[in-house]
Amino acid sequence: MNTTPSDRQVKIVEVGPRDGLQNEKNPVPLAAKVALIEQLGAAGLRFIEAAAFVSPKWVPQMADSAAVMREITRLPGVCYSALTPNLKGLEAALAAHCDEVAVFGAASESFSQRNINCSIDESLARFRPVVEQALAAGVPVRGYVSCVLGCPYEGDIEPAAVVHVAQALLDMGCHEISLGDTIGRGTPASTRALLEVCLRTIPAPQLAGHFHDTSGTAVANACTALEMGLRTFDSAAGGLGGCPYAPGASGNVSTEALVRALHARGFETGIDLPRLQLAGQAILDIVRR
Ligand code: HMG
Ligand code: MG
Repeated sequence: MNTTPSDRQVKIVEVGPRDGLQNEKNPVPLAAKVALIEQLGAAGLRFIEAAAFVSPKWVPQMADSAAVMREITRLPGVCYSALTPNLKGLEAALAAHCDEVAVFGAASESFSQRNINCSIDESLARFRPVVEQALAAGVPVRGYVSCVLGCPYEGDIEPAAVVHVAQALLDMGCHEISLGDTIGRGTPASTRALLEVCLRTIPAPQLAGHFHDTSGTAVANACTALEMGLRTFDSAAGGLGGCPYAPGASGNVSTEALVRALHARGFETGIDLPRLQLAGQAILDIVRR
């Protein structure tokens, strides 16, 4: 593939501290979360999803998000972001000085109900003031669409349903849409089929790939998306992760594996792989203990 120099830069959004840890049953100590985020920054990660201002009854592991944001030593140039499902979450995220926030919708009605307790249309109506108020406060907003390559409750999902939600989030003012293969059911072929439809109306720089690795295809799916022009990918150090409302979903693609694959193909990430591996190993040692 012919690429220009800027075309060789890949943006990695490290979601380990949030997506990676949210599903851990035992409480992960605050100090371990803080250490993970600091080690990731030191390894060169420039976009770190550090927290989720969601209901602690729904996701107990994220209940200490304000403390995480308060305790971390922030590196200049690093964007520390958090999930914000509603205005209450946004208020907490702004109070915690998050650099970016994310709203998270789904292409599947059943998953939307199970994950955020409302329909897709209700979620979009709920996100609109969140995006407006975040932007008014000078905080950029990312949008997630879950279940883009399959739903744990509904099975196959039409690409048109993905585009509908992604476009609605872009129209609201989200600067980037992360396409979530929440249950890791995608293959290179289904990834290609989805992106062919998305890219008809949404430019590649506005899309990110978020692959869970349930079937061991996440790196291959990311490489397919890379070939099709995407340059932003979400991943979790140590391959941690899962969603409490997506039974059977396993970890995110591991940042280590993704970075290795990207570097092997001549792409640049700015990430120091040995330091990243230490960060991944340290958090795995804690959650597996
Ligand atoms: P609800 O129960 O419908 O909310 O939950 P509600 O507005 O009726 O409020 C009920 C209670 O929750 C109230 O407290 C609120 O104050 C509280 P009470 O009066 O009962 O004591 N509450 C909150 N507390 C803290 N922070 C908040 C908040 N909002 C309300 N922001 C809600 C609706 C959206 C809040 C809930 O369903 C929720 O928190 N869901 C989050 C689920 C979640 O975090 N899932 C994992 C992340 S998504 C994911 O992993 C997928 C992704 O990685 C991409 C992919 O892989 O596809 C992003
Ligand atoms: Mg996820």
